[in-house]
Amino acid sequence: MFISQAGLDLLQEALHHLGNGFSQLPPAEARLDLERLRPVLLEVAERMRDNYPYHHPLYAGQMLKPPHPLARLAYALAQFINPNNHALDGGRASSALEKEAVAEIAVMLGWKEHLGHLTSGGTLANLEALWIAGCLHPGKRILASSQAHYTHQRICGVLQIPYDALTVDAAARIDVTALEAELAKGDVGTVVATLGTSSVGAVDPLHQILPLAQRYGVRVHVDAAYGGYFRLSEGLNGQAAEAFAAVPGVDSLAIDPHKHGMQPYGCGCIVFRDPSVGRFYKHDSPYTYFSSHELHLGEISLECSRPGAAAVALWATQRLLPLERGGELGQRLDQSLQAARDLAAWLKARPQEWKLLYEPELDLVVWAPQGASASQISARSQEIFERAAELDLHLAVTQVSQGSIWPELNWDQPRLACLRSCLMKPEHLEWLPEICRRLEQAAG
Ligand SMILES: Cc1ncc(COP(=O)(O)O)c(C=O)c1O
Repeated sequence: MFISQAGLDLLQEALHHLGNGFSQLPPAEARLDLERLRPVLLEVAERMRDNYPYHHPLYAGQMLKPPHPLARLAYALAQFINPNNHALDGGRASSALEKEAVAEIAVMLGWKEHLGHLTSGGTLANLEALWIAGCLHPGKRILASSQAHYTHQRICGVLQIPYDALTVDAAARIDVTALEAELAKGDVGTVVATLGTSSVGAVDPLHQILPLAQRYGVRVHVDAAYGGYFRLSEGLNGQAAEAFAAVPGVDSLAIDPHKHGMQPYGCGCIVFRDPSVGRFYKHDSPYTYFSSHELHLGEISLECSRPGAAAVALWATQRLLPLERGGELGQRLDQSLQAARDLAAWLKARPQEWKLLYEPELDLVVWAPQGASASQISARSQEIFERAAELDLHLAVTQVSQGSIWPELNWDQPRLACLRSCLMKPEHLEWLPEICRRLEQAAG
């Protein structure tokens, strides 16, 4: 999982090859004073031990997925150059790799044309999409589900676009009837559909939202920061499969390679279906774009400096694991999907002890221990979370609101704390019996 000695040897070989490309230059390498570096680096290693073991399959808490070993190596290799993908002047090769990698993502979405680039993460990707949405529909509202990522509301605040949250159904998906009632008011410019909500992994019914949006002349942006790579899965069920199949018809989509794309952090992506939205990015920067008349990525992105290394790592990963439906990457996602379904089945087989709160649509599972009331269950969820961590099983806690779920529960408080697990590593499938064993022990 980490870079092994063999991996470091490979990196050395690749660095040598890269360095040879500059061998005509007089030597100008800074000398490493290892005696000074060593204690600091070891201190860093010591400090970094204060972390949850994100790399291990017993870490099944938040949305954290270890980068692919090739992504780590390619990122490290690119540091020799440390390119800046703002302009071709700062990162010629890595800009070309970014354009190719993003074009492959656009193909994965089913688009023949696109405009897109990498961002620092999903938040920036969504911000660009909502900024363009506001440019195209000035003064009109943006709607997203009450379960959408919290940053949508904040982004709309920053952009000063009116924002409203839509109610959700018992599966935590946008309630299409409520959506239509809002659209009929005539003041909506854009609907955000989330394919994989952060809290419970719900997939909004995009296949139903799109025809409605078309009828009312409204834009559709998809937040697929977490779920986007499930386009490659062959294992999705029912409505989730239909929603993902509808992706080619949307206007823009945010996806995070630093989640399911196995990239180091700092790698989000925004893609627009209509390349002409590039006109809104137009700006004058005569001091950065002087080496070429070709497109500089800074001309189509809000951020200025961006790490070219992120593009290099992504390109390398896609070279190894092409974005093909049912390919190796898709199969890995299907293993995660199966792990989530197996955990759900295990919980449902023990109704005296556990309550599965949502049937998993992707690889995220949300459940609660049984108990007499919302307050009692919340306290017990927190206790199990802590006891599991003592047993080296790391889960997460989320809050769900009273309303559409668990009507027979004694809701003595409006919110319920429950357990949540992102089974994002394919290894989670193999480790599931051990995860369940430790969960049982933590609850015992
Ligand atoms: C659905 C969704 N949207 C947006 C984001 C924000 O992405 P980032 O943390 O990369 O900025 C997340 C993060 O988990 C997410 O799950």
